[in-house]
Amino acid sequence: MPSAEQSAVEIRLEDYTPPDFLIDTVDLTFDLSPSQTHVRSQMKIHRNGVHDRALVLNGEHMTLLSVQVDGRALTENQYVLTETTLTIFDVPDQAHVVIENRIDPASNTALEGLYQSAGNFCTQCEPEGFRRITYFIDRPDVLSRYTVTLIAEADLYPILLSNGNPVAAEKCVDGKHMARWVDPHPKPSYLFALVAGNLTRITDEFVTQSGKTVELGIYVEAHNADRCDHAMASLKHAMRWDEQVYGREYDLDVFNIVAVDDFNMGAMENKGLNVFNSRYVLAKPDTATDGDYAGIESVVAHEYFHNWSGNRVTCRDWFQLSLKEGFTVFRDQEFSADMGSRAVKRIADVNLLRQVQFAEDAGPQAHPVQPKAYREINNFYTSTVYNKGAEVVRMLRNLLGADTFRQGTDLYFDRFDGQAVTIEDFVSCMAEVSDLDLAEFRQWYDVAGTPKLLVRDEYLEGQYILNIDQMVPESAKGHPYMLPFGFALFDEAGQPVLLDGKAEHILIVEQLSQSWTFSIEKNHADLLVPSLNRGFTAPVEVQYDYSDEALGVLSRADTDAFNRWDAFQRRIQRCLLGRIRMAMDVGSVGEDALPEDLSKAFGQLLLEAAQDPMFVAECIALPSENYLADQFDHDTPVEWIHHERARLRQQLAAEWESTLQLIYQSHDQDGVYRFESRAAGQRQLRRQVLSYLCSLKRSAWTQLAKEQFERADNMTESFNALVALNVSDSAEFEHVLTAFEARWRHDPLVMDKWFALQAQRSDENALARVQGLMEHPTFSIKNPNRVRALIGSFARINPLRFHDSSGSGYQWLADRIIELDAMNPQIAARMASVFNTWKRFDGNRAALMRAALKKIHDRPDCSADLAEITGKALG
Ligand code: ARG
Ligand code: ZN
Repeated sequence: MPSAEQSAVEIRLEDYTPPDFLIDTVDLTFDLSPSQTHVRSQMKIHRNGVHDRALVLNGEHMTLLSVQVDGRALTENQYVLTETTLTIFDVPDQAHVVIENRIDPASNTALEGLYQSAGNFCTQCEPEGFRRITYFIDRPDVLSRYTVTLIAEADLYPILLSNGNPVAAEKCVDGKHMARWVDPHPKPSYLFALVAGNLTRITDEFVTQSGKTVELGIYVEAHNADRCDHAMASLKHAMRWDEQVYGREYDLDVFNIVAVDDFNMGAMENKGLNVFNSRYVLAKPDTATDGDYAGIESVVAHEYFHNWSGNRVTCRDWFQLSLKEGFTVFRDQEFSADMGSRAVKRIADVNLLRQVQFAEDAGPQAHPVQPKAYREINNFYTSTVYNKGAEVVRMLRNLLGADTFRQGTDLYFDRFDGQAVTIEDFVSCMAEVSDLDLAEFRQWYDVAGTPKLLVRDEYLEGQYILNIDQMVPESAKGHPYMLPFGFALFDEAGQPVLLDGKAEHILIVEQLSQSWTFSIEKNHADLLVPSLNRGFTAPVEVQYDYSDEALGVLSRADTDAFNRWDAFQRRIQRCLLGRIRMAMDVGSVGEDALPEDLSKAFGQLLLEAAQDPMFVAECIALPSENYLADQFDHDTPVEWIHHERARLRQQLAAEWESTLQLIYQSHDQDGVYRFESRAAGQRQLRRQVLSYLCSLKRSAWTQLAKEQFERADNMTESFNALVALNVSDSAEFEHVLTAFEARWRHDPLVMDKWFALQAQRSDENALARVQGLMEHPTFSIKNPNRVRALIGSFARINPLRFHDSSGSGYQWLADRIIELDAMNPQIAARMASVFNTWKRFDGNRAALMRAALKKIHDRPDCSADLAEITGKALG
């Protein structure tokens, strides 16, 4: 398939104009066959406003067969066809347009538009895939009513699905059959979907709050029929939750989910027919980990929630993407918090934000939550749009309070139902229901970069004074942000100190420099420890000069669990960064002893393991090598980061060895596996504890891990044993890897774990092993999940070997990206972003990374997706 040209034009928000024509109804007929699918589209269109411009339809990668306007076939001088558009002249104000075209799903490796996966047909249209199916005004502010007729061979494709409700199904004469679907809700083309294939259906039903029965279906390949229970349960929980928390009810007779193996992203919220990457549907205890179960619960909910935040109220243009994605991520985060542990969910979400979004915001791809310009919109499905976007909505909730926020969302859904709107419309609803002036708040959507808050405090005769200075990113041009800031104070015994009689405050920070004075009861100036940005109320970096002792107080006694975790992580990070810098100076790994306060705090956390195992597991998890690397803006010391992190783990393990062993044993579970908060917490704790023990490389502990692997009746415990053995570097690891492969080699989703683990292994053979695994019968470079598991894990989670100073990792990845670009530009572009950080490495590595980027970029056939990323990275 020819890639798009590098010269893709820049699209700018400020150039937005309404569509010249609107499409009221579209009636599509598909005659499906792998390499020659015939599409007939009948559209009722009308001119939008008074103008005499031609009708321009988008269309790519297809063959036009005929065009009719109001029953008359057009001759070739009545329209112009280019590689990306079909322009029709002299169209009446109201017209009936009929277009026939042909497409080739079998050779569609980009997985956009209509393609095949495991022999079945499926679609991905967001953001601009519909133009690969038929000629259309493929933009989200054109909302139409769809009728879809599917025709296919009955024995090969017994299941025929599209959006909306089924209205007809019939046998045809020639071994084919047909089904017709009508979606009563007008929608943009990006929400169109069809599926045709040989699939098994798992059914259930849901009765909505007003008493309507909805038929629920999950469609999978027959051999996966026993892996759908968790997705189905998650769906029903999500439907109930959206009624209870947002008052949102489902609006069709059926809701279907289809799992497909080849999928670029996580899942897609097509109206009434969600299409999922199979990894976010399929789970049973022996194939899926607790992490997989949690991922399924949140993605199923996310796509379901889009039915209102995205589908009923949609985006005017793609600059508004965070309108649906930021809001929907916030909704799914809160749903997961309600289903499991709220504190642990918050920790996980902030961890992701800091590791991925903060890094993005500090690099060459930085962009505002509402981007102002793009070349390829697929490159803007980013952590900034999704995760920072969710934080911005969370701030609105915290500024308004839960009840007022709910009034705001009610107003938003009510006022804009059936419309394509903007982020501004959402924020105005929030301003309207509250007394807040949110004009300044808009900066969160408009400016890239992470603001820093410099916090100072002082105690003066019964008064406590807090100062906050904002250091705003350059593009904010000195304008302050508006943000909610959770705040409390503790004394050195860990007792809360009342401020103006209250234990906790949410301050509104809105000036570049601001101070607050509180009266406090303390009469003596002993250690006062502020707990700042509690619960991570704002997506900022907070700088405050904490002593080790103060961090100890917070990690022991803060009443906000998130800040307890954060305080302990800060303490670990301080220790690690100090050691890494020392190692850089001296040129060798340090030999200093474990700091006593850190060790004590670690031990104290272990004592709480029985009470809240998942929380303790999160606390004792060391910061990732990548996160540590992000703290360096030049000469990133890849080796020292790796070795000092490993050394600290060993020291903590040696110091607490017997306690760790005790915890490991006391959290052993008997009974059947259940994905449930406490049990999952215990498994996660055992994983951490066993990894610490195995880092000591003693045979007693590797034996223990091996036994866990052999005894395990669920994937979580089985895979966690593998993770720990990897840390131990022992001979058992190979043995267990082989056993794992023997058992799972026919199950690609499970093998992804096996690929990923080997790609992450930091031994010297890493690259050679990864190269070898590309030949494994289960690996395929055409499948995005396999690519992410093997190639992606090596490039992202194995910094020691990927950044080998010879440049071998960079060259190898560049060649894989070039290979991928010819098949699937979206995936190639995603992979290329590991080169974003090249300026933060030493001269040798920086030059090698830059050379790899140039090799990718300087090809005449580099795709527009990839060229936008590499172009920005090269700067
Ligand atoms: N709307 C989908 C979701 O977040 C994501 C689809 C993105 N697809 C893409 N090709 N960029 O739920
Ligand atoms: Zn989404």
